[in-house]
Amino acid sequence: KAVLSLFYSRKSVIGMTTPSMNDKRYKIITFGCQMNLADYGSLAALLNARGYTPVDTEIEAGIIILNTCSVREKAEERVWGRLGELSFFKKNNPAKRIAFVGCMAQRLGDKILDRAPFVDFVMGTEAIFRLPQFLENELGMPNVNVEIGYEENGDQLPSRDTKYSAYITISRGCSHFCTYCIVPYVRGHERSYPMADIIRRVNAFVDDGVLEITLLGQNVNSYHDGRFDFSDLIRAVAKETDIRRIRFMTSHPRNLSERLIETMASEPRVMTHLHLPLQSGSNRILEKMGRAYTYDHYGELVKKLKVAIPEIALTTDLIVGFPSETEGEYQMTLEAVRAIRFDSSFMFHYSPREGTKAAMLDDDILEKEKIRRLIDLINIQKKVSFERNQLELGRIRSVLVDGFSRRSGKILKGKTEGNKTILFESDRKIIGTIQKIRVTAADSWTLHGEIVESSNV
Ligand code: SAH
Ligand code: SF4
Ligand code: F3S
Repeated sequence: KAVLSLFYSRKSVIGMTTPSMNDKRYKIITFGCQMNLADYGSLAALLNARGYTPVDTEIEAGIIILNTCSVREKAEERVWGRLGELSFFKKNNPAKRIAFVGCMAQRLGDKILDRAPFVDFVMGTEAIFRLPQFLENELGMPNVNVEIGYEENGDQLPSRDTKYSAYITISRGCSHFCTYCIVPYVRGHERSYPMADIIRRVNAFVDDGVLEITLLGQNVNSYHDGRFDFSDLIRAVAKETDIRRIRFMTSHPRNLSERLIETMASEPRVMTHLHLPLQSGSNRILEKMGRAYTYDHYGELVKKLKVAIPEIALTTDLIVGFPSETEGEYQMTLEAVRAIRFDSSFMFHYSPREGTKAAMLDDDILEKEKIRRLIDLINIQKKVSFERNQLELGRIRSVLVDGFSRRSGKILKGKTEGNKTILFESDRKIIGTIQKIRVTAADSWTLHGEIVESSNV
């Protein structure tokens, strides 16, 4: 396995790296994408296996773990903000140990200690799984470790916050190197887990009450374990496990194969939702982003998907204000949203990431202008989402009921096949089942519905 970065050899400057080893209560604070959530689950399982116990708040915890994201400047700022708050705990109780792990740890290494010397451990995106050993000082120094190449310990079932759905990482890293993106640098090149291991994990989750899994990778379409590709994997999960619902993300438009579309269409347990990041509606910008497809190619894919899976819900990622993006090119992105009619989008303004190719371009769109472009885009998407959701009215959807809505202890919530959140009133005993719900109202972000009696899906 390639080792992308080597150990940093600096010790924490504060002499507090060997506090009481007794306090095994931990709290993990996770930022960033589903990948980080999945890593959180694996790390928690490793800690639990060694007798550590999760607690709800930082105050109770003897070990506080910040699982960080580097994807945009804002994401990093949020982490620094939180770390600032934690420094307080550390001052009051120096025996508390603070671990800074994940993508920002990978990117910044021991620079983190320059800014926050009270941090005890800095563990990168792969070294994170050795944190339990470092906590017990089995591996000795250094306590900054950003080596890439450790395998996740596959024996334990990852922890999860939701009882009925779970993430399974099918590949780590990314080899696409889109010019704006830090992910390949902080997560290394793409590596796929063997299909048999993934199937085993799905089965373990099923035995533990999970009804829905999401197969995760930065680019699931290029999954290949040497023998099997992503379509093989989905077919095998459907055939060899009793999981009720299968989702996956993220797909790259460049290698979304006809066979995968066929697999989605023919396998009823694969949910009718696809997250397919477009990024921009302009071919010139797409090329500068290194996305390796054109807007027309994307449009063709959407056409094929809609023919094969008429019910499909499409979501996307969009970036505005990429270096040199003209008003006209930005308008093409707006036009794409209107034409393709995404059910929803994650929308961002461009944020230069040091070390990426795009960071060498002149970041010439003013922050104010980027924000204007973003706000207008969000407003257009909001309108399109509203219109898309109106089409749901009167439809009967199959919904995995996963708990109460955040706002009310009376209203239940769940997800439709198209990954839309739906709220409805019913008895709590249907939590953890899949029910038929008729959609009765819809706004841009949420559906409301009523249970169809005698549904027994
Ligand atoms: N692997 C996934 C997503 C990775 S990051 C994919 O390729 O689709 C999630 C999203 O963050 C990206 O799709 C992109 O829209 C956004 N993003 C990544 N780097 C960014 C940057 N430097 N500035 C603004 N948005 C960015
Ligand atoms: Fe980043 Fe592109 Fe890889 Fe996605 S495919 S993680 S945007 S480099
Ligand atoms: Fe995910 Fe952020 Fe890392 S988006 S891969 S947690 S940089």
